Amino acid sequence: MKLTFRSKLVLSFLVVVLFTGFIGTLVGERLISSGIIQQAQDKVSVDLNSAREIYQWQLEQVKDVVRFTANRFFVKEGLLGTNIELVKEELKKIRTKEYLDIFTVTDANGIVIFRARNPDMYGDSQAGDEVVSRVISNSDIVVSTVIISRAELLKEGNDLAERAHIRIIHTPRAKPRPESEELSGMMIKAAAPILDNEGNLLGVLYGGKLLNRDYDIVDKVKETVYQGQVYEGKDIGTATIFQGDLRISTNVKREDGSRAIGTRVSEEVYDQVLAKGLPWIERAFVVNDWYYTAYEPIRNIRNEIIGILYVGILEKKFVDMKWRTFWTFLGITFVGIIIAAIISYFLASRVVQPIRHLVLASKRIAGGDLDYKVKIKAKDEIRDLADAFNSMASSLRDRDEQLKERTKQTIMKSERLATIGQLAAGVAHEINNPLGGILSYSHLVLEDMDTDALGRQNVEKIVVQATRCREIVKGLLDFSRQTEPEMSLANVNDILNKALALVEKQALFHNIEVIKYLSPDPIQVMADTSQIQQVFINIIINAAESMDGQGKLELRTETSDDHNSVLVEFTDTGNGIPKENIEKLFDPFFTTKEVGHGTGLGLAISHGIIERHKGSIEVESDVGKGTTFIVSIPLHRKQN
Ligand SMILES: Nc1ncnc2c1ncn2[C@@H]1O[C@H](COP(=O)(O)OP(=O)(O)OP(=O)(O)O)[C@@H](O)[C@H]1O
Ligand SMILES: [Mg+2]
Repeated sequence: MKLTFRSKLVLSFLVVVLFTGFIGTLVGERLISSGIIQQAQDKVSVDLNSAREIYQWQLEQVKDVVRFTANRFFVKEGLLGTNIELVKEELKKIRTKEYLDIFTVTDANGIVIFRARNPDMYGDSQAGDEVVSRVISNSDIVVSTVIISRAELLKEGNDLAERAHIRIIHTPRAKPRPESEELSGMMIKAAAPILDNEGNLLGVLYGGKLLNRDYDIVDKVKETVYQGQVYEGKDIGTATIFQGDLRISTNVKREDGSRAIGTRVSEEVYDQVLAKGLPWIERAFVVNDWYYTAYEPIRNIRNEIIGILYVGILEKKFVDMKWRTFWTFLGITFVGIIIAAIISYFLASRVVQPIRHLVLASKRIAGGDLDYKVKIKAKDEIRDLADAFNSMASSLRDRDEQLKERTKQTIMKSERLATIGQLAAGVAHEINNPLGGILSYSHLVLEDMDTDALGRQNVEKIVVQATRCREIVKGLLDFSRQTEPEMSLANVNDILNKALALVEKQALFHNIEVIKYLSPDPIQVMADTSQIQQVFINIIINAAESMDGQGKLELRTETSDDHNSVLVEFTDTGNGIPKENIEKLFDPFFTTKEVGHGTGLGLAISHGIIERHKGSIEVESDVGKGTTFIVSIPLHRKQN
């Protein structure tokens, strides 16, 4: 898949934002929710303490009423037989005033004398009751939560037995239970001894509050601890008193809004609190909803577990809070993505536009429009790039112009040389035959002449001059010869050495120091060896002549920088060539030598030969100091 630079930039922006947003959301949600949950859970265990306080306070209330009443003078008197009717009247009043469900007095053996709630029922024994029996044996006040059987409840009053009677409602997650109803009740019960002045037990006074369907405690917990807060129509804080695992007093609601009396605790809480006697402080499913909860056992006077005290906070509020946080974070991430996308898009456009400009400019330049200029306003690296690009284009243009100029000159020179060559060839050809005639006839004349014959010297001069003419003609023919060279593989170093060996012995070279710097590796070229050798000889002799037989000649072979050609350099310390002559150097018959000494064909012929080898000859000269001729011939490439 090929992505544009802009898409890549935008994408990487998005990836960064998405990644950080996602991590942020996760971490934030985790931190917040764990904080909230921990707080809620911690609060619930504190709330359980408050609930326990309220429950204890209720126990104390009942205990105080019973104790104070038992110590009242008229109660003692009544039991001693003075005025029992007064006792009955007073007990009735106190029971109603203090909201006690039962308020009963027995004699010292536990036989009921009077029940304030149910005066018609008396004479039965309460000596077997766990609270009363303890007072009889210890003569001390006792308060406790106790389970009261239906039979006992019926004695205290039919309505009380009915209030305790609870039909068990099927509850999800509760431990299976065979019974369908609960007949006994759970009561806060206090009993106090009634003593005479000597401290002898006259009787027992006991009172109690039936907890079944009595909502004083749980609603007080709800109001004081949770201020009755409501979330989506449900109480946030709830409290419950269980008899065994059964809700007998609660403000947890069922779906129809009624109190969830008759529902039961979940099995896991049952196992922890009822079976093991340990508190349960964590999340739990209560009737219909999940709550952060705290449960602890309620024990009777014998320290047996008979019920549970519970408080709980509705989890939904916190879960919703958690989700709201999550969605808020996600929303922020989303907005972040959109903003990042917009910003990165514009940023990318700003970067991409000048790049497009540069691409367009490159294409224009590649197409030959070297005058095209990139214009970028911004002052940044792209601007630097554009400036560099522009200066590259202008130097390209300069080079292009130089190249054109040089090519033009080369072409002109080649054309001129070709024209001269044709002319020379024609003339040479025409002159060659008559010249042959002159030479052979003058030789015949010479043969017929005596050695001292008159005019012999003149004929000899004719022969010398004609011979010279023939040499010139031969040179001309060489120069104009269009035959292709006979190519063979050769080492340039070898050719140069041979050429030098052929001329070195001449007197001209006796006082010339020749220094060779030859490439150590064989430099192979495809060439006509004898023609190249002729070129080297021409150049070497010219150099020696320019030094008047005295000086230093350096010969050098090397490969060109681009490794495509071999360069052969001849450097002399001769008189040099004036600028105006350099142009004409390769023209036929250009010579500075005296008449009769040079034909001016040497370099012209050499130029032709090198050109046919697809090479070149260049000259650098400094008048008075010396001259360097550089012959370049294409290197032979091994064909693989
Ligand atoms: N190394 C050199 N130093 C100075 N001048 C040179 C050098 N080589 C060539 N020339 C000049 O170039 C001219 C032409 O050289 P070219 O070899 O073509 O002819 P020539 O040497 O004059 O005659 P020929 O080679 O026929 O004897 C020379 O006359 C000389 O003026
Ligand atoms: Mg010469």
